[in-house]
Amino acid sequence: MARSSPTFVCDSCGHAALRWSGQCAGCDEWNTLVEQAAPKPGAAGKRGGSRGGALAKAPRPTTLRDVVAAETPRLLTGIGEFDRVLGGGLVPGSLVLLGGSPGIGKSTITAMMLGNLVASGRSCLYVTGEESVAQVRMRAERLGEQALAVSALAETDLATIVAAIAAERPDVCVIDSVQTMHSAELSSAPGTVAQVREVANTLMSVAKQGGTALVLVGHVTKDGSVAGPRVLEHLVDCVLVFEGERERSYRTLRALKNRFGATSELGVFEMHEGGLVEVEDPSARFVGEASAAAGSVVLCAMEGTRPLLVEVQALVAPTEVVPARRVANGIDRNRLAMVLAVLARHTDVRVGSADVFVNVAGGVRVDEPGADLAVALAIASAHAGEPMLDPAGRPLACFGEVGLTGEIRQVAHADRRLGEATKFGLGPVIGGGDPSLAGLTTVPTLARALAVARSEAAALPRAA
Ligand code: TYD
Ligand code: MG
Repeated sequence: MARSSPTFVCDSCGHAALRWSGQCAGCDEWNTLVEQAAPKPGAAGKRGGSRGGALAKAPRPTTLRDVVAAETPRLLTGIGEFDRVLGGGLVPGSLVLLGGSPGIGKSTITAMMLGNLVASGRSCLYVTGEESVAQVRMRAERLGEQALAVSALAETDLATIVAAIAAERPDVCVIDSVQTMHSAELSSAPGTVAQVREVANTLMSVAKQGGTALVLVGHVTKDGSVAGPRVLEHLVDCVLVFEGERERSYRTLRALKNRFGATSELGVFEMHEGGLVEVEDPSARFVGEASAAAGSVVLCAMEGTRPLLVEVQALVAPTEVVPARRVANGIDRNRLAMVLAVLARHTDVRVGSADVFVNVAGGVRVDEPGADLAVALAIASAHAGEPMLDPAGRPLACFGEVGLTGEIRQVAHADRRLGEATKFGLGPVIGGGDPSLAGLTTVPTLARALAVARSEAAALPRAA
């Protein structure tokens, strides 16, 4: 009987097949066939019975007003930036996916979190599938005394982990990582879509029953999605990504999805000898590192509810290669292409036959249209080989969205962006916004923004 039930199902059309093949016979899509766990005998019988026989008893829906939502206090992880990104701490019984590339510090931050939780009287379990408990202990030693109080388990078999969670009933459980765990019911290798989905689903039901907050650590694939082709992102309550360059010490943590709080909050950390340290004032760091060289401007960005000053750098270099290269680090490639097109059409900055590189310093990603003006001014400055500075000779600060007709559009929270720049002694800021805001030089078009930026730089006394 087991042989006749299909074990591979297409992810996109639902076509069922007995054997795996690269292309789905139902919809001709490639690599969509995924192994399914054999249905449990009891469950299959029940389902078949209700379909063929009498209708199941109809449940009564409830009016939302009458639903009693118990206020469960959140579990504070003791890492301020982490709690803020989560929307105020871990929600008991929730499922959090923490993604990031290897070596970024996922195991470090989860170990620190569990140490803090144990110190505040919570029970915790750390399940590792990548390291031995001795290796976990070595990391904990670097992190301090309280990280050593965490219970750890080195295990990759799903059924064993489920038994451990059911027996221990911890307040918080970390699975490091979801790609290394495997269910014996599936023949596919650990880390495949089928395995990852099965592991996450099973762990979720166990954790929800016991009210355990579950943190799944996941690797980020080459295309940037967490744990395979977005399989887990629908399932979990919260998706956090830990980003940064491994060579640099800055790490940023942001929420891509959060059922219990705002997304786009950003936490900034720095990796030290004794673990990750929160950077409480990232603007100060990034502005302090900003250079007054050609091709550099300061962007007043918004990260969630928080203004953040970052340095945007550009390099324009002549090239023989056709087409010329456009490389964007920390900003969207398509927005760079758009900004270059607007510069070429509406201003005198034409970089058609040059390579253009744009980089947001510090390994930060800025995903908002308000970055356009900074990108445009940095490119113009790099192209001319002239620094763009404010009247006092400090790096020029700006923000604003560039429209396709060359206009500068207003962006949200102009007052808070300005406030942040003023706090660090920058300004007047060039941007789109309410002209009555003090410290803001409002510019209607990109051409005007360039003229203002150049005249401010030209008005400075030149070094002899
Ligand atoms: P790790 O947390 O193991 O990364 P991941 O689980 O995301 O793969 O550690 C990342 C790096 O951080 C590792 O190369 C060593 C370094 N590190 C420190 O610099 N200081 C520390 O206190 C710790 C624990 C790690
Ligand atoms: Mg790790």
